[in-house]
Amino acid sequence: MADQPAIARPRRVVLGVGGGIAAYKAASLLRRFTEAGDDVTVVPTEAALRFVGAPTWSALSGKAVTHEVFDGVEQVRHVALGQQADLVVVAPCTANLLAKAAHGLADDLLTNVLLTARCPVVLAPAMHTEMWQHPATVANVATLRARGVTVIDPASGRLTGADSGPGRLPEPEDIHAAALAALADPTSRPAEDLDLDGLVVVVTAGGTREPLDPVRYLGNRSSGKQGIAIAEAAAARGARVVLVAGAVDIPLPQHPRIETRRIESALGLQGEVEELRARADVVVMAAAVADFRPRSVATAKIKKTHAEDGRDDDSAPTIELVRNPDILAGLVRERARAGAERPYIVGFAAETGDAEHSVLELGQDKLRRKGCDLLVVNQVGVGVTFGQDDNTVTILRQDGAAPVTVGPASKTRVSHALLDVIAAEVRR
Ligand code: CTP
Repeated sequence: MADQPAIARPRRVVLGVGGGIAAYKAASLLRRFTEAGDDVTVVPTEAALRFVGAPTWSALSGKAVTHEVFDGVEQVRHVALGQQADLVVVAPCTANLLAKAAHGLADDLLTNVLLTARCPVVLAPAMHTEMWQHPATVANVATLRARGVTVIDPASGRLTGADSGPGRLPEPEDIHAAALAALADPTSRPAEDLDLDGLVVVVTAGGTREPLDPVRYLGNRSSGKQGIAIAEAAAARGARVVLVAGAVDIPLPQHPRIETRRIESALGLQGEVEELRARADVVVMAAAVADFRPRSVATAKIKKTHAEDGRDDDSAPTIELVRNPDILAGLVRERARAGAERPYIVGFAAETGDAEHSVLELGQDKLRRKGCDLLVVNQVGVGVTFGQDDNTVTILRQDGAAPVTVGPASKTRVSHALLDVIAAEVRR
């Protein structure tokens, strides 16, 4: 994804102000932007103007202020403001504004700006704890975040009345810092090009667990973060996503375009992938699949044995392992057998390298063996990649095109870089 062009003119910031008691704090946020040389247009809602009047905003920004779509119609302000903005920040953002933004309603100037903006959008919610924690608000926040909008978590503390809890507007300096961070992150755009619209993308994520008995399993250190980030990024770009998740360390995404299926073992994962294969346009195998499973699974918990005098003896069971199917290689084989072009198949290679081979050499070798279209190679080990938020990967291509290295970057950014390659190939 291309980075934002350098901006020679002052940065155009739209500061939206929602109708909450914290609206007065937006005045000091406005000062931070203007003092940094930004060209700020304040767009309050009608309710916000009951808390802080238009003269305050006009005086501080040096511009006329309106909440109406029908003011300055000749300049088509309701479209131009959003289109031309380099950054949109809404502080405070009420539960009502979050809901409108999530559902694309546009019934005043600010919501029109939110719908026309193609720049980073940062929302700083402020509301009562019950409203922030209501499932409707939780779902709206998840929808907006999956679309690339930055929704800052509210601060905890004393609220408008006697009550306290999460819901306070963060301090203006924190909102300002979050806005600058969003500007620096090219994946935080609100409306990604919907270049995967109409496509079905299957993403496997997390680690498999191979049962030994009803309470024990063989597992691995995969956190599922990279696979989940790919699922979210694909949904944000318009794909219908089926996320097949094994054991993961983070909450699963709530997104209208992501269907989630849970699996436990490699055989369970194979069953889901085989069922989904026929309707998938793209399959991304980011899951860490166990290569081996115990030959037999005890139906009752495996117990220690005891000597005749009742004390523990030293004996321990030997666990015999058998090979699991290679799901990725199976997908490639089935596609070839059917003479089909789809699905486009992406594998991941978790490599540590060894004395004779670099991580990339092992990756090239794996790409040849597995036959998938792309192989995303990353270096793993305790504390490297597994469970981390950042990642560095090299994308190797079966078609012989040059490998692409991405990172170190957030797993979201890595996901978009991978989807850039995938979208270019499947839209060819
Ligand atoms: N994979 C799979 N089925 C398996 C093992 C792995 O589909 N039984 C997939 C993974 O989801 C990943 C890719 O194959 O996309 C490579 O996984 P990795 O563990 O790096 O490779 P292995 O084939 O297990 O090779 P090895 O462990 O011998 O390096």
